[in-house]
Order: sequence, then structure tokens, then C-alpha cells
Amino acid sequence: MILHPSFDINGSGHLTVCGRDAVELAKEYGTPAIFIDEDAVRSACRMYKDAFARHFGGASSPVYAGKALCVKKLYEILREEDMMADCVSPGEIATAEAAGFDPGRVFFHGNNKSDDDIRYAVSRGIGHFVTDGVDELLALDRIAGEYGVKQKILLRIAPGIDPHTHKKIVTGSVDSKFGSAIETGQAEAVVRLAMTLPNVELDGLHCHVGSQIFDTEPFTDAADIMLRFIAHIKDTCGYEGTVLNLGGGFGVRYTEDDPAISYEENIGLVADEIDRTCRELGIDRPTIFMEPGRSMVAAAGVTLYTAGSVKEIPGFRNYVSVDGGMTDNPRYTLYQSRYTVVNASRASSPADFETTVAGRCCESGDLLAENVKIARPERGDVIAVLVTGAYNYSMASNYNRVPRPPVMFISKDGIKTAVRRETLDDMLALDE
Ligand code: LLP
Repeated sequence: MILHPSFDINGSGHLTVCGRDAVELAKEYGTPAIFIDEDAVRSACRMYKDAFARHFGGASSPVYAGKALCVKKLYEILREEDMMADCVSPGEIATAEAAGFDPGRVFFHGNNKSDDDIRYAVSRGIGHFVTDGVDELLALDRIAGEYGVKQKILLRIAPGIDPHTHKKIVTGSVDSKFGSAIETGQAEAVVRLAMTLPNVELDGLHCHVGSQIFDTEPFTDAADIMLRFIAHIKDTCGYEGTVLNLGGGFGVRYTEDDPAISYEENIGLVADEIDRTCRELGIDRPTIFMEPGRSMVAAAGVTLYTAGSVKEIPGFRNYVSVDGGMTDNPRYTLYQSRYTVVNASRASSPADFETTVAGRCCESGDLLAENVKIARPERGDVIAVLVTGAYNYSMASNYNRVPRPPVMFISKDGIKTAVRRETLDDMLALDE
């Protein structure tokens, strides 16, 4: 196994993905192409659902954050696995619905929903809006009124935690485009406003502290701060919500240097903290939701590329260029995110060639990894970038008019195309 159970090496010295030879996959489906291990995604759904049932019970549930990967086939799986979902745009809602996913099981997010977005979601019968602030609340009340609907909502609250530093350094996320901060008094004001509006039903509160977080503390801190706020507004406003949604953010192992964390254990620790704090404050434990995105799909995915030019610059570094790059995976360009790269054609040869893996775009920053070690590649080798199931296809673009790759789901039962490869005709389809 390499990093995650979906990846291994076979007798031909090739990387395998979900037991299939990556070199054969590349031959059959072309490159670049994204492969997702369907069974790994289903296992993640079951792990999260079991953990929520065990630690919280009742109506508490994991909610898949669709921004990580939003394709119809995935929503079919989520529907079959009885998951809930978080959507951030009519496009994501439409994708879920096209897969038969019940909009009543969707939380609709976003810091700037337009009136049209609000109309769309209300008319589709969305389960909950996660309402960002006063502006949206007033617009939603007006539009829900037009539809004769009393729309269920959660209010997005900024608990003031910077997950990468420490809970005492709170100003970082008070200064955020998301939510209303407790510290400034705006959170309480928005709760008071929501209580007066006839066409919204305030079911509770939401917060989200960040993404790719390995520590448990930011989540337990967030739970603690939110429960104290719930107790505070119970005292000051007479409002006691029944729902607390703690957002997403569990970290995923991209390289050997990242820790392997147990999501189940983390959920248990968050549950213990919630129970302790509720007892201390004398409040009932709310229904708990969390919104994992990355940790449900990242490790199930791999992108296969074909190596093109291999350039050795004496005294500087080596470059291997592949037939994709920032168009299918902009994460290194955007965040310098580290990845595990494998020469899938020579996976059992020594990984002793230090190289930068470059994309095909006309831009020096179009890199997938810098100074990684792989088996010395030759033009035509299949190069795999592991752990690309989340925030890759969903963030892909057509920069340089490069067509986006296909997304294939692999399981024991076979390989299904979730999204076909874009063609040059697709590329021109919107041009008048
Ligand atoms: N809920 C809310 C309200 C969120 O804003 C997010 C992520 C999630 C849930 C899911 O978080 P996750 O479990 O995936 O960490 N493009 C970036 C990640 C942006 C995350 C934005 N919000 C990346 O590629 O790393």
C-alpha cells in the first residue's frame, strides 16, 4: 500500500489503483484522467455515519461538502449511502438533484447568495439555508414569503478561531467574509433579527473553522465556543436552537510527512467535549452535523498523466512535464500543496530522480510538485499524482483552452465514467 488502501504496486512493477494496473488504465482511458475508488468513498460514508450514530445518535449526521468533488455519479453514491449534503450554488444543487438526491437533505451555503440563488433554492425545497448575515436574512425572508414558505435556516457564526495557531488568537477569523462574529455582538444581533422574521424558522447555528486540519483542538474549541454562545442567547434572547453544525475540515494525508489521523476518534473527542460542556452549561445537547468534504473523497482519487519532456538543467534542477497540470489541479499553484508523485510505469524501481513535475500551461507557476523523488522517467511513462479526489476536478479550468480530464469511478464491479473527457467541440460550445 502507498499512503492509502487504494494504491499499491503489482508484479509488473506498476502502480495499481483499486487493484487495477495504472499503466493499463492510462492506455485504455487516455491521460490526463482522474480515477476515484468508489469503494473507498462508500467506506468513508459508512465510517462517518457509524461514528455519528455511535457518538451522537438521533438526527445527527455527517453532511458531505460538495465543493470537494461535485459530479452526478458521486451524488448517486451519497444518495444510496443515505448521506446529507452541503451545496454552495444552484449548480451544486442541480448536480445533486440530477442524481435523485433529495434537496430536503441539503444545507445551502454561501456568503453571497443572490436573490436568484435564493429563489432557486427555496423553489427546490432546500432543507436548510445556512444564512450568512443580515442582508441575506432579509432577502430570504422576503423571497420565502413570496413562495409562501417558512424556510428552515441555520445562522453562520464566526466563532473566532484560527485553527492554525491557537484559540486565544481569535481576531483572525473574526475578520472573515463568512458569518457573523460572536466577539463583535453581530452574532447575537442576527439571532435576534431571525427570531422576528415571519418566513424563516431558525433551527440553530453553523460554524466552520478551516480545512486540512489535523488537530482535534480547533473542533473541540469551536464546539465549546458555540455551545457557550447557545447558552448565552438562551439567557439573553430566550432562544434555544436545536441544531449545531460544526462544518468540515478534517485533514487528509497527502504525503508520508502528514499524520494519519482517525476521523472516528476525532468525532468521539468532539462528542465528549460537547457532552461535557452541555452538562456544565445545563443545556440540552443539540443535534450535531459536520460537513466533511476532503476527508471523504481526497484519498480515493488519483490523477494519471503521461510524461512528455524530461529536462535536466545542470546545476539547477530537473523537470518532467506532464500532459495536464494547473488546469486539472491548481492546488500547488494556489497553495503550494504537497503531493505524492509516483512514476506508475516504474513504481518498484528506486525513486532516486529528484524532479519538479510541471504542467503543460504557458506559465512558469504551472507546477504539480517541486523537488520530489520518483523513478527516472522517460517520455511516455505514466506519472501518477496521488490523493487528488478532492478540490481537483471541482477546481479545474480551461486555461489555455485545455480540455478538462474525465472522472472515472472504479470499484470491484468495474469502471464507470462519471464525467467524460472534454472535447475541442465542448471547448467551443459557448462561443457565438
Ligand atoms: N463546510 C464549509 C462551510 C466549508 O466552507 C468547507 C470548505 C467544508 C465544509 C469542507 O471542508 P473540508 O472537510 O473539505 O476541509 N480549495 C481548498 C479548500 C477550500 C475549503 C473551503 N471550505 C483546497 O483545495 O485545499
